[in-house]
Amino acid sequence: MKNKTVLITGATSGIWESLVYKYIQEWYSVVATWRNINKLIELSKKFTKKEFIYLKCDLTLDHDIWSLIEFLKDQHIIIDILINNAWLGIFKSFMKTSKKEINTMLHTNLLWHLFLTKAILELNQVRNICFVSSLAWKVGFADLSVYSATKFAIEWFCDALREELRGSNIKVTIIRPWIVDTNFFDNTAFIDYANQIRHKMQTSNLVAGSIYGAIKKWYSEYTIGKDRYFLILQKILPKCMHRIILKLFIN
Ligand SMILES: NC(=O)c1ccc[n+]([C@@H]2O[C@H](COP(=O)([O-])OP(=O)(O)OC[C@H]3O[C@@H](n4cnc5c(N)ncnc54)[C@H](OP(=O)(O)O)[C@@H]3O)[C@@H](O)[C@H]2O)c1
Repeated sequence: MKNKTVLITGATSGIWESLVYKYIQEWYSVVATWRNINKLIELSKKFTKKEFIYLKCDLTLDHDIWSLIEFLKDQHIIIDILINNAWLGIFKSFMKTSKKEINTMLHTNLLWHLFLTKAILELNQVRNICFVSSLAWKVGFADLSVYSATKFAIEWFCDALREELRGSNIKVTIIRPWIVDTNFFDNTAFIDYANQIRHKMQTSNLVAGSIYGAIKKWYSEYTIGKDRYFLILQKILPKCMHRIILKLFIN
């Protein structure tokens, strides 16, 4: 293994694939978890076995997460940075979302991030824990109710965890990407909108570079792109302006 190791959950696509490259380039080893093995096999061909370890970890399967922890212990792999990224989007109106879908989203986007974080903290070596949020933590979008709920919960969980870890050497970072051209927008609920605004989207490479920088500088939160201005405007203008600001930023 190289000097430091980063564990990235859900590194098979999007921003996170670019992050794998970035970390390996910067002399880290990467442990990446997958659900879709074919994508990671392709990615793994580009790196040595020491640079890139990939493990199955479907965050809806209890067994997988404990196997991941056992593997880290057995192999004496010390995780310096944990990036909780894997997520699932089922986008439809709340009334059309089944109980099973709600349960799956809460598990994938929230509960397992907490369980994995706890397990990694118990290993006693981690220095930075990163979570990925979105503008949806602050604004409720139609058809994203459960997704928004998980992002809101993650934001406040981070705040509380940061307080609990104050005085230790462990930093908690929350990242809020803007609109990035990834599988996120392949969702049928978004496809028309995505095609309209694709020219405005950020690239995964650019965002991965920013995330790498924010974690390296131990920022506690990092909002990428226009979200930053949105959050400032939302704070200073009255609540009735909410829709106008949203229109300005999203279209
Ligand atoms: N793209 C954007 O514009 C944007 C904006 C704001 C916030 N974000 C946030 O950024 C994060 C990543 O977004 P992205 O755009 O890079 O997404 P993405 O391309 O859809 O990637 C999602 C990753 O999560 C994995 N995953 C899904 N369900 C899983 C499960 N049950 N167990 C394990 N892994 C699972 C996927 O694996 P498979 O390939 O195997 O399905 C994939 O690697 C999310 O938290 C999202 O909310 C994105």
